Amino acid sequence: EMGGKCPFGGDSIGGATGTPPMLSDWYPNRLKVEQLQQNGPQANPLGEDFNYAEAFNTIDLEALKQEIKGFLTTSVAWWPSDYNNYGPQMVRMAWHSAGTYRIADGRGGAGEGMMRFAPVDSWWDNGNTDKSRRLIWPIKQKYGSALSWADLIVLTGNCALEIMGFPTYGFAGGRQDAWEVDNSTYWGPEVWDGTKVNTPDSMVTRDKRWRGQNGDADYDLENPLAASYQSLIYVNPEGPYGKGDPLGSARDIRITFSRMAMNDEETVALIAGGHAFGKSHGMVPAAEIGAQPEIAPMEQMGFGWNNPRGKGHSEDTMTNGIEGSWTPNPTQWDNDYLINLFKFDWEVTKSPAGALQWTPVDKNAPKTPDAHIPGQMNALMMMTTDIALKEDPEYRKVCEKFLGDFDAFTQAFSKAWYKLTHRDMGPRERYLGPEKRNENDLLWQDPIPLADYKLVDAADITALKESILKSGISGSDLVYTAFSAASTHRSSDKRGGANGGRLALAPQKDWAINQRTVPVVAALRSVMEEFNGQQTGGKQVSLADLLVLGGCAALEKAAADAGLTTTVPFTPGRRDTTQELTDIEMFTWLKPVADGFRNYLDPEFEAISQDVAPEVMFLDKAQLLSLTTPEWVALMGGLKAMNANHDNSAHGIFTDRVGVLTNDFFTVLTSMDFEWKKTDAKGMAFSLDDRETGKQRFTATRADLVFGANSQLRAVAEVYAGNDGHKRFVKAFVKAWDKVMMLDRYDVKVLA
Ligand code: HEM
Repeated sequence: EMGGKCPFGGDSIGGATGTPPMLSDWYPNRLKVEQLQQNGPQANPLGEDFNYAEAFNTIDLEALKQEIKGFLTTSVAWWPSDYNNYGPQMVRMAWHSAGTYRIADGRGGAGEGMMRFAPVDSWWDNGNTDKSRRLIWPIKQKYGSALSWADLIVLTGNCALEIMGFPTYGFAGGRQDAWEVDNSTYWGPEVWDGTKVNTPDSMVTRDKRWRGQNGDADYDLENPLAASYQSLIYVNPEGPYGKGDPLGSARDIRITFSRMAMNDEETVALIAGGHAFGKSHGMVPAAEIGAQPEIAPMEQMGFGWNNPRGKGHSEDTMTNGIEGSWTPNPTQWDNDYLINLFKFDWEVTKSPAGALQWTPVDKNAPKTPDAHIPGQMNALMMMTTDIALKEDPEYRKVCEKFLGDFDAFTQAFSKAWYKLTHRDMGPRERYLGPEKRNENDLLWQDPIPLADYKLVDAADITALKESILKSGISGSDLVYTAFSAASTHRSSDKRGGANGGRLALAPQKDWAINQRTVPVVAALRSVMEEFNGQQTGGKQVSLADLLVLGGCAALEKAAADAGLTTTVPFTPGRRDTTQELTDIEMFTWLKPVADGFRNYLDPEFEAISQDVAPEVMFLDKAQLLSLTTPEWVALMGGLKAMNANHDNSAHGIFTDRVGVLTNDFFTVLTSMDFEWKKTDAKGMAFSLDDRETGKQRFTATRADLVFGANSQLRAVAEVYAGNDGHKRFVKAFVKAWDKVMMLDRYDVKVLA
């Protein structure tokens, strides 16, 4: 008998794990080091030995596709299909899954099925995609772990296009699902009351993410964002601020789509291509619609946006708010979208939900069948974003080209769709299945031609290491160069890295941070030419391999000099690519902004970083390198021991034995023998003075001192600073080093 008392002992419960306030409510600006321990193996129910590539390759892709296609032309009672075809809503699902990708940090995209989780699953723009995913659950269930949600979502989009008469360019599997919400992606500064239904209209202003006024020369969007509004994939269909301004809308489309790495032609192909299919849904005012999935009542079981009117679906459906279809044949690939867009003048009207949309002025314009009510014909519809393609002079040129050449349009959309849905998969070694496409002309894949030579063996590697060390390049320079080559890799879209040898190509060779590598690259090239010149049996070594091998050789020596004989792993097989196969603009996005490892801060950092401290950008870099906290700390200590500063400055080089792999960085960092003083008003640079003599011993930046100032980083630094810490540090450093060198080696790694 509990006597009405709660078993906790009191008579109320105020919280349980995860209840606010949490640490970040009290200290919103604290460095969130725990970002590095996200989506770890602990969260993955498939276990660490599960091999997705092996599982996926057991699938008969053609049979799976037939099953999906069969399902698309059926209809289930709880969410009947428009026009008896689920195709259009599945195309939108796949597009929205991929469309969160942004080139600036490579985050977002279709690669991990993130549209299953908040916040993306609950964005207004993703209205009713919860239904689309639940409709294909029986197929997901049947194939189980062999078919990820991420792959199924994209594949269903392709199947949908194909049954509607559109020739897709290809499909690759290989996307591995995430198992946790994504807390590392910055989605923009706006927050609002999460308990209410939030339409773009009801949201707080979008002005925080925009600079200047639409139309100004400096009008631009905060990085790394790609969407014009919080909770939209790209732009507001009613134009900026919902005002129905097509030219303003065109400007926003251009900025947002180029942040997704799409040019004008690809942008028009995607929008005009996508809107050849399906319809928009706007029968009920947004105010009547229920909560988004993340906060919907329990009995909705993950569904959101409950629609209380009429059937709540079919002819009563409410998704975005705009109502109607773009073409007379919404389930058929044809050129009617562009034909009608250009043939008719369009005037503003309102949907039943009250949204701003456009309809032909000419009442004799073709009509389109209702998606559910037999015999009913409706007026055609365009959104402000569609009219934008006609009004903007550059987009108009592309439209006119596609109007006159349907095959060119088809080809452009086909390739742009392949790019859109595969953009974040990384090197083509990650592509699975019989429909993958990886011709060298797909520049966005950052192609690296296959090797037509034999790889070096262990004896060659030993000899090459000797040649490199004898070439007169310092160990510090070798380490700096290897790290510079490898550390462009980002785990988000899996671009960058040492493979390809792009450190020696534009734009990388011209970056200020890489100037120190230029003579090193030249010297390594000589070693390569000499070695390759001596071979007779078709054996060769690549520059990319030598860039990494140089670092490994130097570190083995540096560890030995510190009294710890160590083998630094090296896996040959990197290939060199060419300048022609390198998209300079797209690689420029990989240029570091704040890299504390190399003491680099973009000269414009203070002007362009809003309230973001350099150490926060450094944490972001560590996260993109997929480092754990101990790895981040160890890597920093080792690189500082080797003096990996881009400018050869002394910041953070807390040692008198530069180039020897000591743990001096940590012993100084944790020592009370020093007093730390900032040497500029903003606290960007510091002096470490001997407490006894008052003399300056070392200098540092924020990126250095944060390892002693932040409680969590300091906890790890203390381990490496301990009297038993040196060995542990060198071991951890070598492991973290090898991890960074191998980040892009999808050719030899188990798919991950
Ligand atoms: C539907 C906006 C680009 C494919 C819609 C809807 C809106 C919209 C508001 C109606 C949603 C609903 O109420 O059901 C936009 C905007 C775009 C854009 C503002 C960019 C400026 C694209 C792209 C694609 C695409 C790039 C694909 C390549 C579709 C499809 C539908 C659709 C297939 C129909 C969905 C259905 O029938 O249920 N779009 N869209 N859209 N969109 Fe887009």
